[in-house]
Amino acid sequence: MPRTPFLPHLGARVMPVLLVVLAAVIFVLDTITNFEIAVAVLYVAIVLIAVQHLGRRRVVMVAAGCMALTVLSFALTRTGSVTSGLINCAISLVAIGVTTYLALRAAAAEAAAREAQTQLAHITRVTMLGELMASIAHELNQPLTAIVLNGNATLRWLAARPANPDEAGKAAQRIVRDAERATDLIKRLRGLTRRAANKAIWLDVNQVVADTLTLVQHEAVRNNIALRTELDDDLPLLQADPVQIQQVVLNLALNAFEAVVGGKERDVTLTTGPGKPGEIIVAVSDSGRGLDSVQPDRIFDAFYTTKPEGLGMGLAISRSIVESHGGRIWAEPAMPRGASFFFSLPTGRTKARGSGQ
Ligand SMILES: Nc1ncnc2c1ncn2[C@@H]1O[C@H](COP(=O)(O)OP(=O)(O)O)[C@@H](O)[C@H]1O
Ligand SMILES: [Mg+2]
Repeated sequence: MPRTPFLPHLGARVMPVLLVVLAAVIFVLDTITNFEIAVAVLYVAIVLIAVQHLGRRRVVMVAAGCMALTVLSFALTRTGSVTSGLINCAISLVAIGVTTYLALRAAAAEAAAREAQTQLAHITRVTMLGELMASIAHELNQPLTAIVLNGNATLRWLAARPANPDEAGKAAQRIVRDAERATDLIKRLRGLTRRAANKAIWLDVNQVVADTLTLVQHEAVRNNIALRTELDDDLPLLQADPVQIQQVVLNLALNAFEAVVGGKERDVTLTTGPGKPGEIIVAVSDSGRGLDSVQPDRIFDAFYTTKPEGLGMGLAISRSIVESHGGRIWAEPAMPRGASFFFSLPTGRTKARGSGQ
């Protein structure tokens, strides 16, 4: 399976190399040019790039490194007026310091905004779920209460001396009628979710994975997680609802993040590949705490969670989405540690790549 580097335009592993090369170029230029030319100001570019990719502490380290190089260049430069050199050196140091401070502040504000947005989305989801449940509970409560009342009435008519089978029969009929009302309600609810499930288009699973990555990339950087992909380029397109499949990948990826955070090794890998004939498999593997402390047959149940703030709906929703697409979802321990979550999607009605929509 060919490895596609994550962030193809600027591989995460290439970035530190790029910064070092850039710093070296600036350092050499700064040292060989005379004191009058403030090449060192260019170090701000390094700080600005670093802020995009590194955490707060590392950015400060990079900035400190740039400042040290500026001073070193000043000490090594042989030509020009030393006074200009001193002034330019000071200007460069101030520029690097101020840029670092402002860029970090902007990054923090952006992170806070994003956090608020995520929380809002979470609250909206929970509220919606809560409202939905309240209305279902309300609707179901009526026939169920009536069933209990009529059940008691039936028992009373039957226990009376003499028993009154006519009245008991009528009450039993009302029980049947109310039970049918409740069943109807449940049927309508299921119809509702099924209808929502059908926005299938021809899609490329790798594209869905890539789209999901752009959503979680920042979260990975923030938590120091090495996020990798191994995408099989030869997979056929398949018919599915892209938003829903993305939701599944997102749920699995966020679970993987939550499983590795706090640990030392923080690797999460998203893989796509062929499964059994007529199947595509997407896997999310992590090096996290694994499945030892969970009940493996229950993790896909609604409201099963081992997290203090967990809702326990992620895997339940994922399973219902995958199954409504005719696929399966399962978990296995990963080697040497962690967990792997897999889901399959059938390629029953597939289309070769590049044959148009
Ligand atoms: N990658 C994983 N590693 C270890 N345990 C996991 C992983 N993903 C899910 N689980 C377990 O399954 C439970 C249910 O997950 P989920 O349905 O997404 O709900 P939540 O994330 O809100 O707890 C989690 O609480 C956790 O115990
Ligand atoms: Mg979850």
